[in-house]
Amino acid sequence: MKILVTGGAGYIGSHTVVELAQAGYEPVIVDNFSNSATSVLDGLRAILGHDVTCHRIDCGNAEALHQVFKAEGNIQGVIHFAAFKAVGESVQKPLAYFDNNVGSLLTLLEVMKDEGVTNLVFSSSCTVYGIPDQLPVTEATPTKPASSPYGRTKQMCEDIVHDTSGAADNTLHTILLRYFNPIGAHESARIGELPLGTPNNLVPFITQTAAGIREKLTIFGNDYDTPDGTNVRDYIHVVDLAKAHIAAVQRLLDRRASDIVETFNVGTGHGNSVLEVVKTFEEATGQKLNYSIGPRRVGDVPAIYADATKAAEVLGFKTTTSLRDSLASAWKWQLALGK
Ligand code: NAD
Ligand code: WQD
Repeated sequence: MKILVTGGAGYIGSHTVVELAQAGYEPVIVDNFSNSATSVLDGLRAILGHDVTCHRIDCGNAEALHQVFKAEGNIQGVIHFAAFKAVGESVQKPLAYFDNNVGSLLTLLEVMKDEGVTNLVFSSSCTVYGIPDQLPVTEATPTKPASSPYGRTKQMCEDIVHDTSGAADNTLHTILLRYFNPIGAHESARIGELPLGTPNNLVPFITQTAAGIREKLTIFGNDYDTPDGTNVRDYIHVVDLAKAHIAAVQRLLDRRASDIVETFNVGTGHGNSVLEVVKTFEEATGQKLNYSIGPRRVGDVPAIYADATKAAEVLGFKTTTSLRDSLASAWKWQLALGK
């Protein structure tokens, strides 16, 4: 059963490729390597014991995508990870974000329609909720105006999927997965997150600081209305997140979905503060972290975490990895990168 994985060489995509292969699917990667390295394919081979097919193409290239569907034959579904994801960069380069994130979805949907492929899992984000009025957020929690062009691309993509699915001639069945904060790496430390330059995200910044690549972590504000004053997030281990995709693909293939578009939060259901993450990292790894409190980061949401009930009840999906083990895996990956 072949599943096309766009962005399959990226952080979440590569972990999903492993889980797909181990669940008996045949993942086929499409990636332009704009934010990943071909060495990821070596990591996948080391974990799986065999090569994974990879087509180096851009998802905005309809002709090339058509060729992949035709050459592979019998692709049963698509998981669409390919996108740009840096919130700050999206403010600097909004057109590049709309072009890549929205444009490649449009191209993919056209090609899927032509090729008669009807199952799609789409990477959405908790960013669509903005600053929520109530916690935890359920899938019914109203979305808020996006605080960045990146966030807006995710909202637009969700709308595009809904409109496409509602069209009279539609055959598309979609599951939208709204990820919370993925962290950590595969237990083998052969694949993980590969941030280019200075990391924006908390956990790679922590591991690079502990490794001596960064001098100090700055915690962006401790005067929020949260238990310890620092922001609260729902940190989910990337392998747990990857497994949610297997449940989603299987649900689509079995035609068990109750609606033509279904939406699921994918998080642990628990919130942790930045200070809790720092302390847990120190306990899990024995590393003392150099950090200080700095000013708030513009655009940060004070607190958000998932209500994970729907994913548990409908998808049968539950996370199993603790924050401590997730952070330990991130550190193991950082040490492997150093070598
Ligand atoms: P990533 O950058 O590691 O992976 C994305 C992959 O897509 C990269 O390998 C990149 O080379 C590829 N790519 C980008 N544009 C492409 C294009 N036009 N054609 C072909 N390949 C292309 O990012 P990630 O963290 O694995 O995120 C995957 C998806 O999940 C993205 O859609 C992202 O917006 C979404 N998401 C990520 C997070 C997060 O915190 N990492 C949270 C919520 C949602
Ligand atoms: C986590 C917490 C920071 C770095 C982003 C995107 C979101 C989604 C997930 C894609 C925050 C604090 C961070 C640092 C810090 N991605 N922090 N010092 O902002 O929750 O979400 O990634 O869809 O759309 O916005 O994640 O890892 O950047 O930050 O104090 O050096 O860590 O303020 O509270 P965020 P993050």
